[in-house]
Parts: sequence; structure tokens; C-alpha cells
Amino acid sequence: MNGKKIDISCPEKIYWKYVQKVAPVHDSRGRSLPGSLVKTLHHLRDCKSILDVCGGTGRIARYLVKLGHDVKVVDLSEDMLDIARRKGLRVEIQDARHLDEQKASYDAVICLGNSLGGIPSKDGRMQAIKEMVRVSRKYVIIDCTNRLFDLPVVWLPLYVRKLLGCYRPGLRLREDVVSGTNLGDIVYHDRELDAVLYHYVYSFLELRGEMRRAGLKVTALNGMLSRRVVLVGVKR
Ligand SMILES: C[S@@+](CC[C@H](N)C(=O)[O-])C[C@H]1O[C@@H](n2cnc3c(N)ncnc32)[C@H](O)[C@@H]1O
Repeated sequence: MNGKKIDISCPEKIYWKYVQKVAPVHDSRGRSLPGSLVKTLHHLRDCKSILDVCGGTGRIARYLVKLGHDVKVVDLSEDMLDIARRKGLRVEIQDARHLDEQKASYDAVICLGNSLGGIPSKDGRMQAIKEMVRVSRKYVIIDCTNRLFDLPVVWLPLYVRKLLGCYRPGLRLREDVVSGTNLGDIVYHDRELDAVLYHYVYSFLELRGEMRRAGLKVTALNGMLSRRVVLVGVKR
């Protein structure tokens, strides 16, 4: 990588640098929300209060507020929340793994835009799911970029490039990923930050399993082979 050594020893620190960098452009990625998200949000029509965990710039919360819901956005990034605040949304810095909210205080808790994958450890992600279940009265909705979809579309071409000795510019595989020990860690090389970025990519079955273990009855809103899987958990 231009002869420089890339430090991958602290993926979480690098992730926050990345979040700070993308916050100002987060909303410009798509003018409107993707169809799968819109379909998801209409599932919440019988919910008044909604907690948007890892809600970022509030692009989803704003849509929900327009539909008449009472929404609070929580996130760990001040840069993201600043933008949400400017949209007139109710925001608060909170860690998804330790929410400062009362038990059963919202009709629904959502964590969308593949945000759960930004939490680096499996224990941390499970902790976040349990927190969402604790705070919700009815629904917990989580989406993920589906590994079953990413495997042929993203990973296999990268493996071929690795074998041929050339990568797609800007996207690199970490050595332990290349060795096949962990297909779940997707790592980008950001040229501007000169950093390697961490994001966990779930499989549909894995996320469903974790949500069930946290005490939810889970149904999928779209097929297990789609690019984005949205899972609706109902509290038992
Ligand atoms: C990809 S953005 C998605 C934002 C929003 N859900 C959306 O779809 O537009 C991921 C967000 O998760 C937040 N995040 C990551 N780990 C978090 C944690 N442990 N607690 C709270 N927020 C977190 C980041 O700050 C970032 O704003």
C-alpha cells in the first residue's frame, strides 16, 4: 500500500475516523431511502414511539417523523448526530451496547443501514441486540448486508484478484481474511485516510440466530439471497 505500513491493530479507532469522514456525505449517497427500507418502515405503522439505534444523520428517523412517529436518534458519533440535530430531530449520544433508556420504553427499536456490523466484536454486537430487546415493547428491526449475496459478488472476485496478484483499487483484503479464517470481516483500504476499515458482514442465518437467542420471534422481510436482509423481531 504505497510502501506504508497499515495499522490494523485497532479497527475500532479507525472505524470512528471513517465515520467522522463520511458523516457530511452520508445523506448524499441516495436522495431517497432504498425500497427495502421504505417497506420496512411501513411495517411500523402501529408503533408510536421509535428508538433509532446507530441512527447516524437521521435520514431514516426524518422519514419516520414525517409519517407521524415520535422518534429519538441515538449514535456514538457527534459528527453524525450534529447533522441529525440540524434536521430538528431528537438526538442523544449513546452506545448501542449500553443504552441509557428504560426497559420497554419504546414501541419499536430499529438499527438499520447495516449499522450493527460497525460494532467490532461478536460479544459487542450480541450485547447491542440484547439492549434493543430490553428497551423495546414490541419490535426490534435490524438489517444487514447479506454475506450469502456478498460471497459470490464481492469476495470471490477478490480472491481471484488476490491469486492473480492484483486487487481492485481501494478495496483490499486483510491477510487473516485472505487466509480464509474469517470471511466475516470486511475491510476496506481508504486511500485518503490511509487506513484499513472494519465492518462485519452477517449472514442471514447468523443474524436471525442472534436475534432469536436474544428472545425474539424473527421473520425476514425479504429473501435470504437478497443484497440486504431485513429481520423483524417480535418480543415474545
Ligand atoms: C452506516 S451508518 C448508518 C446510519 C443510519 N442507521 C442510516 O442507515 O442512515 C452506521 C452508524 O452506526 C453508528 N455506530 C457504530 N457503532 C455504534 C455504537 N456502538 N453505538 C452507537 N452508534 C454506533 C455510527 O456512528 C454510524 O453513525
